[in-house]
Amino acid sequence: MTQDELKTLVGQAALHYVVPGEIVGVGTGSTVNKFIDALAAMKDRIRGAVSSSEASTARLKALGIAVFDSNEVAELAVYIDGADEIDGQGCMIKGGGAALTREKIVAAQSRRFVCIADESKRVTVLGKFPLPVEVIPMATQRLTRQFAALGGRAAVRLKDGQPLVTDNGQHILDVTGLRITEPLAFESQVSQWPGVVTVGVFAHQRAHVCLLGAGSGVETLTFQ
Ligand code: A5P
Repeated sequence: MTQDELKTLVGQAALHYVVPGEIVGVGTGSTVNKFIDALAAMKDRIRGAVSSSEASTARLKALGIAVFDSNEVAELAVYIDGADEIDGQGCMIKGGGAALTREKIVAAQSRRFVCIADESKRVTVLGKFPLPVEVIPMATQRLTRQFAALGGRAAVRLKDGQPLVTDNGQHILDVTGLRITEPLAFESQVSQWPGVVTVGVFAHQRAHVCLLGAGSGVETLTFQ
């Protein structure tokens, strides 16, 4: 199966975790796009969605799925999202699509995080994928030096030759050269640096379940 077919497979498999009659949390990215397309088939059985990006909101609305503001909903039963890397404990690197801040917010208001990914995302130690960090632009140079002290090389993400601007009006640093052996402690540490909006390590909001698209089909990983 191609990577695209595996994404379609896990996107469809995620429907099993959507609770009828409720509002579902929806992430961002090419795998989630497959989930959104599949969700259209059961749109009359859910109240709607809380979305983690302008891109997902547009796709949901185009398919006739109601999108709620996260402030309108106290708690979500489930959040479905992709990942750039996932380890054996369900900790992830996310933010390849620059939506990490809203993703972490919606994940935090959800009782269960179901990660959908193809097997290329599975790792033993987080850090091979450049770590996305959403930052306040005036802190960029200082944060670059702080990551250098940890052995990382930070680069401002560009789009059309200019710093990419997130849905929240901020910039993204992509940090290479890190080996994140203690994701919980790392997330706590970097989250406290002035100017960091969100670090793309999801350890406090780790996945409870991962639907992993592999050659043989969908493998379900559950984390304690
Ligand atoms: C979006 O900001 C990311 O966190 C995505 O969840 C992640 O990049 C996975 O995206 P794909 O499904 O496109 O690989």
